[in-house]
Amino acid sequence: MGIALVTGAANGIGKETAHLFAEKGCLGVVYADNDHQGAIAAAAESKEYATNQSYRTLAVHIDVSDSASVQRMVDQTAQEFGRIDYSVNAAGVGNTTLRPAALANLDELHRIVDINIKGTAFCIRAVVHVMLNQELLTSASRNFGRGSVVNLGSAYSYMTLPDTFAYTASKHGVIGLTKAAAFDHAKDGIRVNAVCPGPVDTALLRQAFERAPAMEAVLEGGIPLGGRLAQADEIASVILFLAGPGASYVTGVGVPVDAGVTLGTARL
Ligand SMILES: NC(=O)c1ccc[n+]([C@@H]2O[C@H](COP(=O)([O-])OP(=O)(O)OC[C@H]3O[C@@H](n4cnc5c(N)ncnc54)[C@H](O)[C@@H]3O)[C@@H](O)[C@H]2O)c1
Repeated sequence: MGIALVTGAANGIGKETAHLFAEKGCLGVVYADNDHQGAIAAAAESKEYATNQSYRTLAVHIDVSDSASVQRMVDQTAQEFGRIDYSVNAAGVGNTTLRPAALANLDELHRIVDINIKGTAFCIRAVVHVMLNQELLTSASRNFGRGSVVNLGSAYSYMTLPDTFAYTASKHGVIGLTKAAAFDHAKDGIRVNAVCPGPVDTALLRQAFERAPAMEAVLEGGIPLGGRLAQADEIASVILFLAGPGASYVTGVGVPVDAGVTLGTARL
């Protein structure tokens, strides 16, 4: 089933996604993260889930906000496995301060833009470069293409909540990157999409709840389907669908996986 490269794979959504690639039969899965120990542990754990008898894995230390680090990750992956079929950009950070736009913390603004927007852009750029040199895989019924990319947007790609200036901007930006790269490389048989989760029960969200304890109940109260947080595997399954041949006619979209959070706010 090919080779998958997942950033942010030490924890949360990235880790679940990387494990699912292993479970679905990938020959190789690369676990990339700036939490190197976490990436090593997750890569080792993946051997329990892997179903391909020739399965191999690699843990790579990476800072997505550093373009040279991203290039090294992609070079190492290409050297080890010879190709990249699926690239998932799940490395990301949330806001650590809640402030209105006029008082936005500048360090936070730089950090979020550097990791969530520039980091995603660096990864798309370097990975697509490798994919461009891969053969176009076709079958009798479907065109599998040269590879596909899935980025992590958010419900904040389509809406906002108060005091989330930089995070909202970063996740809208991910949709822009997704559309632009998809349009540029459709002719090359490379698909680029985004998955846009609502609140997911991961460290990123738990840290936000610690800073603003009232947030958990408020958020859950606003989730139309089930009134609960998502589990990371509920996001991973949609990422794998978008990355894989079942979505061979889909490119340039952001798919909300949000239990209806972005449908509206009014309740009667
Ligand atoms: N949890 C949610 O509610 C939620 C909702 C919507 C979107 N998202 C998005 O999904 C993605 C994954 O989030 P998560 O909830 O799994 O968070 P998480 O904190 O559990 O995992 C994020 C991973 O990214 C890594 N990371 C952070 N900065 C990095 C950097 N500079 N270089 C390399 N790795 C880095 C972290 O070490 C961590 O392993 C993020 O882009 C996030 O914005 C999360």
